[in-house]
Amino acid sequence: MFGVRCFCLLLLSFNLINGLHPPSYIKPCSLSDPNLNDCALKSGIEALPHLLEGDKKYGIQTLNPYYVDLIEVNQGDLKVNLKKPVTTGLEKVTLKAVKIDTETKKMSINTLFHNIVVTGNYEISGKILILPIEGQGKLNITVVNGLFTYEFTIAKEIKNGVEYAKVTNDILLMDIERVFFNFENLFNGDKILGDQINKFLNENWQDVLNEAGGAAIEVLKGACKNSLNGLFLKVPYNELFLQ
Ligand SMILES: *[C@@H]1O[C@H](CO)[C@@H](O)[C@H](O)[C@H]1NC(C)=O
Repeated sequence: MFGVRCFCLLLLSFNLINGLHPPSYIKPCSLSDPNLNDCALKSGIEALPHLLEGDKKYGIQTLNPYYVDLIEVNQGDLKVNLKKPVTTGLEKVTLKAVKIDTETKKMSINTLFHNIVVTGNYEISGKILILPIEGQGKLNITVVNGLFTYEFTIAKEIKNGVEYAKVTNDILLMDIERVFFNFENLFNGDKILGDQINKFLNENWQDVLNEAGGAAIEVLKGACKNSLNGLFLKVPYNELFLQ
């Protein structure tokens, strides 16, 4: 009896100490490969559909669709609350480039999302681009051809004597072709005023994004970081980044 339990504990700790091998759909690249960026891009293109689906074993949440509890904007005179927004369309993505600088340990991932749709319930009050806005109801934000660049430094963390990679100092840059907004039921359902404001927001989508887009960037950045760290903290550094 004691012997069996002991053996199980041993197995358990053996697993913890050694971490997991990379998932079969990730082909590790060698950091000394002169074409490292090409290797990383190729490996990334193969892995991306699997990563989007999520992989519990590796701590990767599904991004298709992507759920968060709350997005809050508190910017000057503007207050926006999105409760349990659902993001769909993240699977329509093209991985454009992956760059790894082996000296500085900086990595950047460049992706084009063709059509991202965020829906949910909103509450809004205050002023947006000097116009008063007020209401609550259903919301649809559609982002067309969003080019996102996620940049971070690969740090190392030691767990049980084994080195793991970890995302630090991350930033997310975006360059978007077009955004469409549809706030239903603005001003207690005043259709004329509501239509006018939606029209105004859509005509001035770039300014709206500049004023209120920061919160969305934070959410997307969090999604990138969680997905990568989920994987990084389960597979030892040397198994993901071959020397
Ligand atoms: C959101 O809006 C886009 C276009 O503005 C539309 O194509 C799409 O069907 C809408 N989605 C939902 C769930 O309302």
